[in-house]
Amino acid sequence: MKPKVLVTREVFEDILDYLSRYFEVTSNQSDIPINAETLASKLADKQGAMITLTDRIDTSLLTRCPNLKAVCNIAVGYNNIDIDACTKAKVMATNTPGVLDDTTGDFTWTLILATARRLSEAEDYLRAGQWDGWKLKQFLGLDIHHATLGIFGLGRIGQVVAHRAIGFEMKVIYHDVMRASPEVEKACRATFVTKEELLSQADIVTIHVPYFSATHHLIGKAELKQMKSTSILINASRGGVVDDAALIEALHSGTIAGAGLDVFENEPKFNPGFLDLKNVVLAPHIASSSQATRHKMAMLAAENLVAALTTGKPPNLLNPF
Ligand code: GLV
Repeated sequence: MKPKVLVTREVFEDILDYLSRYFEVTSNQSDIPINAETLASKLADKQGAMITLTDRIDTSLLTRCPNLKAVCNIAVGYNNIDIDACTKAKVMATNTPGVLDDTTGDFTWTLILATARRLSEAEDYLRAGQWDGWKLKQFLGLDIHHATLGIFGLGRIGQVVAHRAIGFEMKVIYHDVMRASPEVEKACRATFVTKEELLSQADIVTIHVPYFSATHHLIGKAELKQMKSTSILINASRGGVVDDAALIEALHSGTIAGAGLDVFENEPKFNPGFLDLKNVVLAPHIASSSQATRHKMAMLAAENLVAALTTGKPPNLLNPF
C-alpha cells in the first residue's frame, strides 16, 4: 500500500502526477485555505504533507497526527512550522531554499524602483483622469543610481539584491548578525556597517532576514526615526519583521518618504491604514511568483516529500534528529 499524503493547496498538475507515483495523494486543488481544525483532521491518517506558509504546524496539530513523518513547506521561510515541536514528534520538516533567490531579488528591485519613482501613486492619478499635462515638478522621486542601498541580511536573497545594485552604480552597505566572508563582500561590493549606520546612511533600506523571535519588529518606531526623511523602506521578507503600525505612522508623518511592501503582519488581513497612504507600493506576497520559480518551489517540496518518506533523507531537512 502506498503511503498517504496531503497537498494542502493547489499545485501544478505534473507535481501531483509525480507524487502519485509514490503516494496515495489527497490534494486541495480547489485552493480554499484549510483552517487548523480541518488540517488536523485531514492529516490524521497521513504520513506526509506538502504545505504552504498559510498552514501552521505546531504541537496541538502534531499530537493529533500520529502517523505523520514529514511536512514539506513550499517556501524558503518556515516560520509557520514549529521546528522544535516537529523534532519532538519525530516529524521531518523541509523548505525550498535556493530556487527562488533570483526571482525574489528581481521583485525586490520591482518594489525599489516603483517606490522610489512613485509608480503606484502616478498610475492611480492617471487612471483617475486627473492628468492635465506635463509639469516640471510632477511626481518628483528618488534617484536610484549612485544612491546608497542598505541591506539587512546578506544571505542568498540579500546577495542577489546587492549584485543587481552594481548596474545602478550604487554604494552598498549591509548589516547582519554574522559578517559575510570577504569573498561574498567583494562579489557584492558590500560594506559591513552597524545597524545604526545602515539606518542613518541608506537611501533605500531593504530587508532580507528570516522571521523569528529575534527579528520580530527589527524595524519599529525607533529604527524608522533613525532613517533619512528622504529614504524608503522595502520589505519582501516576512510580515512581523516590520512593526506595521509604526511604519504607517512614519509614512503619514514624513519620518521616511515611502515604502514598498510585499509582506505584512497578519496576512491577508493587513493593517488597513496602508490603504490611506499614497507613498506605499503594496503587493500581496508575490515576490517569488514567476511561473518558473513557483513550479521549481513546488517540485523541490515534492522531491523533499518523496525523499523523506522513501529514504528518510530529504535534501532540505531543517531538523536532523
Ligand atoms: C515565500 O515567502 C517564501 O518564504 O518562500
